[in-house]
Amino acid sequence: MATQSRSTPTTPELLAYIQRYFSAEDEFLAAVRQEALEAGFPEIWIAPEQGAFLQVLLRAMGARFVLEIGTLAGYSAIMMARALPEDGHLITVERDPERAAFARRAIERARLQQKITVECADARQWLRSFHPPVPLDFVFLDADKPSYGFYLEHCLPLLRIGGILCADNALAWGEIASESNDPDVQALQDFNRRMATHPQLQCCLVPLGDGMLLGLRRW
Ligand SMILES: C[S@@+](CC[C@H](N)C(=O)[O-])C[C@H]1O[C@@H](n2cnc3c(N)ncnc32)[C@H](O)[C@@H]1O
Repeated sequence: MATQSRSTPTTPELLAYIQRYFSAEDEFLAAVRQEALEAGFPEIWIAPEQGAFLQVLLRAMGARFVLEIGTLAGYSAIMMARALPEDGHLITVERDPERAAFARRAIERARLQQKITVECADARQWLRSFHPPVPLDFVFLDADKPSYGFYLEHCLPLLRIGGILCADNALAWGEIASESNDPDVQALQDFNRRMATHPQLQCCLVPLGDGMLLGLRRW
């Protein structure tokens, strides 16, 4: 039986309040978002309050080396890279050349080209030959949902002990607890179950945006 005693459902008013005070979006990123919309990109980037959460988390962990799967316009990559130290680096993988090119331009305008590498590739192929020079501190999964299990399997060994694998869309657009036939929803249900029961991970689900599932690689 679920306990609701301390859980407050997010209303539009509460969301507006959260975004007024706890957003990682500045004028530059608002412009990038607008340009991405005008370029016809789907509005599937993270919410600004998710960006604030990621920034706090990355700084708290002292993260230096981050991998993101799913770049789109570079919105979340720029947010995360801003929370890395001078010598930190973020690699982001995007299979769509038009999106990768857009993200590279935004990253240059943000003067983050030294800190962010955009790899234009299918992440499933790319990961097979990715051998990071040092273990990763943080992995952010935000791409094709049916591949989340594959990404978990390939990214977990690359993550340092105490590192975090974070997956977006943990609430599957509100459908995670339903008996959906949608393959994306089913993939997320399967992935969440695997994360929750993984012996090497300690997990929690943060219900910001469409839900972020965090798995810390245990000692
Ligand atoms: C939800 S969007 C990423 C949003 C971005 N993380 C943000 O919040 O700003 C997902 C992106 O992943 C890309 N993608 C999907 N499957 C992929 C794959 N197998 N390899 C690389 N990129 C992929 C899509 O083209 C899309 O641009």
